[in-house]
Amino acid sequence: MQLSKILCLLFASTALSAATSTRRTSTSARAGATPAANAAVPKKLSPATPPTMADVKNSITNWDTSVKTVNAYLNDPQNNTKLQSAIVFAKDEPVQLATMMKVTSLSTSGQNAGKILMGNFPSIISNLNAVSAGSMSTNDATAAVNFNRCCTVLPAIGMLWQAAATATKMQGTVGMPILEDQCSQMSCSSGVSGGAAAVAANGSIAANRM
Ligand SMILES: *[C@@H]1O[C@H](CO)[C@@H](O)[C@H](O)[C@H]1NC(C)=O
Ligand SMILES: *[C@@H]1O[C@H](CO)[C@@H](O)[C@H](O)[C@H]1NC(C)=O
Repeated sequence: MQLSKILCLLFASTALSAATSTRRTSTSARAGATPAANAAVPKKLSPATPPTMADVKNSITNWDTSVKTVNAYLNDPQNNTKLQSAIVFAKDEPVQLATMMKVTSLSTSGQNAGKILMGNFPSIISNLNAVSAGSMSTNDATAAVNFNRCCTVLPAIGMLWQAAATATKMQGTVGMPILEDQCSQMSCSSGVSGGAAAVAANGSIAANRM
């Protein structure tokens, strides 16, 4: 039932915006945070090896949708429908990561960001699965995921997008991934992984997060 509903919404994103904006139980006040769930499954891409500029563009688009879908759940953590979508889309992120790591002449900072992401994606997916399976409390699991994403993963994703765009000579600017609501209430200065420290060392990423 839910799936067919989501599939309908996939082809009627305006209807979805209307539906999500009138959502009564939302814990999110941010309008920009909800378009997230407007696809039921990630788009299947067939990038060339090495990926072309168009491949990178499509990969960023897929990835951005996944980020927003996971954000939508983290902004509304009691909603099981959003949790299930988040799990499906979170699993597409490593697929896009693999594509971008194959880009020719990816900068060292891009490669490092990719390595950070490889190290961090498994725990995000397993924490989301743990909520779904009931083996971890929603609070504990989402706190872990929020910390990981806000402080390490989302900045690294932005760095990798920029590096892949630069390496393929993409025109225009590549935005940073949108942060979930919890990020604004979080201090990333203590207890961060080596990965986050590496990202934090890059001033342009800090600036881009604003
Ligand atoms: C949970 O999320 C789905 C998908 O966004 C939405 O259709 C539904 O109304 C939400 N449920 C509640 C109780 O907010
Ligand atoms: C910082 O990030 C920018 C954008 O990704 C990149 O161009 C630059 O090389 C990075 N600097 C360092 C020292 O990693």
